[in-house]
Amino acid sequence: MTETKQRSSFSGRIGFVLAAAGSAVGLGNLWRFPYLAAKYGGGIFLLVYIILAITFGFGLMVAEIAIGRKTGLSAVGAYKKLNKKFSFLGWLTSIVPMIILPYYCVIGGWVAKYLSVYVSGQGQAAAEDSFFSGFISGTWPPIFWFFLFVAVTAVIVLFGVEKGVERASKIMMPILVVLSLVIAMYSVTRPGALEGVKYYLLPNFSDLTPGTLANTLLGAVGQLFYSMSLAMGIMITYGSYMKKENDLEKAVGQIEIFDTGIALLAGLMIIPAVFAFTGAAPEKPGPGLMFQALPKVFNSMSFGAVFGAIFFLLVLFAALTSAISLMETVVSIFQDKFGWKRRPTCALVAAGCLVLGCVSCLGYSVWDQVTVIGMQFLDFFDFISNSVIMPIVALLTCICIGYVVGTKTVSEEVKLSSRFRREKLFVVVIKYFAPICLVLILISSVLSAFGVMKI
Ligand code: TRP
Repeated sequence: MTETKQRSSFSGRIGFVLAAAGSAVGLGNLWRFPYLAAKYGGGIFLLVYIILAITFGFGLMVAEIAIGRKTGLSAVGAYKKLNKKFSFLGWLTSIVPMIILPYYCVIGGWVAKYLSVYVSGQGQAAAEDSFFSGFISGTWPPIFWFFLFVAVTAVIVLFGVEKGVERASKIMMPILVVLSLVIAMYSVTRPGALEGVKYYLLPNFSDLTPGTLANTLLGAVGQLFYSMSLAMGIMITYGSYMKKENDLEKAVGQIEIFDTGIALLAGLMIIPAVFAFTGAAPEKPGPGLMFQALPKVFNSMSFGAVFGAIFFLLVLFAALTSAISLMETVVSIFQDKFGWKRRPTCALVAAGCLVLGCVSCLGYSVWDQVTVIGMQFLDFFDFISNSVIMPIVALLTCICIGYVVGTKTVSEEVKLSSRFRREKLFVVVIKYFAPICLVLILISSVLSAFGVMKI
């Protein structure tokens, strides 16, 4: 979207909330949240995540949407307009979607593969322990599905036909929520699943050390940004389309509840299932958790193959809408900056995405011995964006709003549409709580990634 054009806007608050939540809900909730929750100790992670969502997430989302609405511009222009010195921040935010898009499409490819497995009636094979690892360690199949996913995304972006997909996903999303509820209910009532429910919902403080807490905090903050599309300029763009008379504070609350609700549900679907089918906490939970746990659930259900097929189809839609909006963002950044035409820009972005995504794919097969600071490529890209760049962007945003531009600028914008009930919370979060947390988190994450500190 070029900034000179008249901004179109959402019809009302509900329209805005649905659009923003549609961008926020995606693989982050369904694929990433459950495996992180399992990795970082279940209940503790959940508790930390919820506390961070209502403080940190709230403050940052209010700030981003308000900046967008106030300036009427997307990230690069918005920061520049607020303060010339901070225009680099707009650029920094733009790097994040560029890093996320390729590996997001790799996971999207995995979802497409699983859909094909269920549609072709091989659901039973997918429930075998070795199925997932067999799939990702093959060289060509993951690349094939990844290419297919990128191609579909690129074609939709290229022809500007997102509207059709958005309309379809408005129908698909509520079905996904209902189906997830059914699967979660089935999952938690399996014999042995109760241990998993306890593990997931009840924080266990006895194993807590400062080191594990620091790690959990880092994981939770990164997940918060990722899942709510924060610290990457997305919410600024959405804010720029929001009408002045819509209640901004209420909208933020609703987006947060929606996004967190779906993530919680996904965890409830997956984590107890792991306990029920393997009898213990997931061993080394990683990006494959959803793909390993759910087929076992479907396999034990009557009509499991049908459930599996519908479920992966709906997840594919959620992934596709997010991938489209990520690619769209990257394309418009290049277009705005260099004045390039839309089609060649799309082609270039898709090509770049293919190259980078292949690195992630091959990281599980021919390059599985190659690691970057101890991580496989996909995990490395995920780490750099969620645990390094996004916290830096968030920290700089807090400094910009809290100390340079002033929290008043945001407060005034929020008050255009309603009383700002949580203004005090907002100010404390942006000026003190978030910056202090972020500095601590950044230091510990970098130290531990380079192995200086063992946490
Ligand atoms: N929040 C999305 C999810 O949970 C992922 C995402 C990150 C995203 N950045 C985005 C989606 C930008 C759309 C646009 O899956």
